[in-house]
Amino acid sequence: MRIVLGIGGGIAAYKAAILLRLLKESGHDVVPLPTDTALRFVGAPTWEALSGHPVNTSVFDEVQAVNHVRQAEDADLVLIAPATADLLARIAAGRADDLLSATVLTATCPVVLAPAMHTQMWTNPATRDNVALLRSRGLRVIEPAVGRLTGADSGPGRLPEPADIARQALAAVSAAGLTPKEATRLARLRVLVTAGGTREALDPVRYLGNRSSGKQGIAVARAAADAGAVAHLVLAHAEVPAPQPTTMLSLSRVSSALQLRERVGELIRQEAPDVVVMAAAVADFRPAAYAETKIKKDPGTQDAPGIELVRNPDILRGIVTDRESDRTPEQPGPVIVGFAAETGSAQASVAELGRAKLESKGCDVLVVNEVGAQKVFGRDETAATILTRRPDGEVEEQEVAGTKDELAAALWRAVLRLIDDQSRRTASSASA
Ligand code: CTP
Repeated sequence: MRIVLGIGGGIAAYKAAILLRLLKESGHDVVPLPTDTALRFVGAPTWEALSGHPVNTSVFDEVQAVNHVRQAEDADLVLIAPATADLLARIAAGRADDLLSATVLTATCPVVLAPAMHTQMWTNPATRDNVALLRSRGLRVIEPAVGRLTGADSGPGRLPEPADIARQALAAVSAAGLTPKEATRLARLRVLVTAGGTREALDPVRYLGNRSSGKQGIAVARAAADAGAVAHLVLAHAEVPAPQPTTMLSLSRVSSALQLRERVGELIRQEAPDVVVMAAAVADFRPAAYAETKIKKDPGTQDAPGIELVRNPDILRGIVTDRESDRTPEQPGPVIVGFAAETGSAQASVAELGRAKLESKGCDVLVVNEVGAQKVFGRDETAATILTRRPDGEVEEQEVAGTKDELAAALWRAVLRLIDDQSRRTASSASA
């Protein structure tokens, strides 16, 4: 892949040299495009030696090659790191007064910006507006990291680590099977996703668990973060490694259903997500008592101890109930997505059971997987029905077969369509 690496004039420019090397080492052709100010921090020889390309900063360099158009035409990705407040403002205003800004203006490939600046500049309304404008036009703006800034100060505004930027930028190119337009709309959302299976402890070494691999929920969270949404994944136990947190994807680990409920509740209160996806396999029952020491066999008898179980709260239903009681016309609360694993029978098909569950849980979207010994658990391929309750009460049914990433993309597409329908309905009832 050919990557144009724009470098803004900030102290974090030195990290772009590491980023350049990382991208080269992953096999990409990287064309550095520092601004004049960036060259005051890190000089042209560094960029030229690391990339193997000459450095130009002005549209008047190599005029015969019409450089600003050529660079953009040949690029598969334009990545700018660090993007200073000034550079964000110039790009938002559509300026073309140096080679980098002119290249962005002619680019048709994904453009990813990794801002770095002092916290005050990052939180200033002018910068906030520029970032919102850039995102609304489909440019990806990576959230800066929180931490040590140039001086003794610290806060949000730090350039994320080069490996983190590389991962997020490369993910933007694939955008997880969504069209650039869909990815842009998803990028405006804050999402909360749960995944994995809960474990309900019996004693310090034993638990009741389930066969959830966590793969589907992780794919759903990753697809959102890759598209540019601010995503939080609450992960219980999974067969696969937890995804690396990035500035777009935060991670909380939990074990039991009660811990999952507590963390999800906190995040809904603190972060007011636009969408909550409950992909976790939550145990419906937990042992009534937890033995502080390991339960031992009684040598005097062949009898096994009985385990008394109690019901766990239904977290999904709780989120729906809270939304109904807290909802106002201005703040309708999150779109809520549930997952269901069903085994069809002669009495009721998987789709019928799914419709009944959509009704009983009260969520907006339900992804229904058919499960059996050979189906779904731990596999990379999946088949599911996405049931969406439209604002007029109709339930739409969509069959999806493919990889878990494809199902994740299809789910986000269904959520975006529902959000569109909801806002159209709100707009028409406001004008009526
Ligand atoms: N779920 C939940 N809390 C529970 C159980 C399930 O939030 N205690 C959520 C899951 O995350 C999933 C959805 O509910 O999104 C459906 O889970 P499922 O186990 O199929 O539903 P149950 O209510 O347990 O129904 P059943 O009696 O068919 O097992």
